[in-house]
Amino acid sequence: MSNTRILALVGSLRAASVNRQLAEAAAQTAPEGVEVTLYEGLADIPFYNEDIDVPGSVPAAAQALRDAVADADGLLLVTPEYNGTLSAVLKNAIDWTSRPYGSGAITGKPTAVVSASISPNAAQWAHGDAVKALGVAGAKVVESAHLHFGVIGERFASSHPRDDAEALTGLASSVRELVEATRGELVSV
Ligand SMILES: Cc1cc2nc3c(=O)[nH]c(=O)nc-3n(C[C@H](O)[C@H](O)[C@H](O)COP(=O)(O)O)c2cc1C
Repeated sequence: MSNTRILALVGSLRAASVNRQLAEAAAQTAPEGVEVTLYEGLADIPFYNEDIDVPGSVPAAAQALRDAVADADGLLLVTPEYNGTLSAVLKNAIDWTSRPYGSGAITGKPTAVVSASISPNAAQWAHGDAVKALGVAGAKVVESAHLHFGVIGERFASSHPRDDAEALTGLASSVRELVEATRGELVSV
């Protein structure tokens, strides 16, 4: 049986991003037969524009994202909160993969959302907006896999989430729920 492939999309482009570290830690928790890969090309994708979304000449970086999402069994979005909502990086990724309308790569894709910010609110506004946009885009949002991390500036100031047992337990549970959703999806096809 082939591996279940989970693609992680991280909404912070910062080299030392805690959101990125959380995605790395989630990858580490993947059980046998599950592969969690961080997508690396989000910074190169132009803002969505219908004028450049032309069959046969879609910008290479956007097409690469569409192909990677189409190849994945499930998506793990890891989002910071910027001004009370999800980062533009992730919204742009959702927009590109939501088109062509009704048949975009994200359509029907089991997707979990993890949010993390420096405030005690744990980026829950960003989380809620990500869930809303994903749902409108046609993704299959896996609510049981949701996870929030607050006060990350303090909690992960001097340690990587992979060294935080509670974070690892939560991330492992999210990955497990997401994988179960992908397998349920496969069975029903
Ligand atoms: C433009 C901008 C807006 C921000 N707005 C919020 C916000 O509305 N709520 C919040 O909790 N944190 C906010 N923050 C702080 C982020 O929580 C913090 O930079 C980010 O989550 C750190 O994630 P990272 O380590 O993955 O980059 C903002 C940061 C930036 C750069």
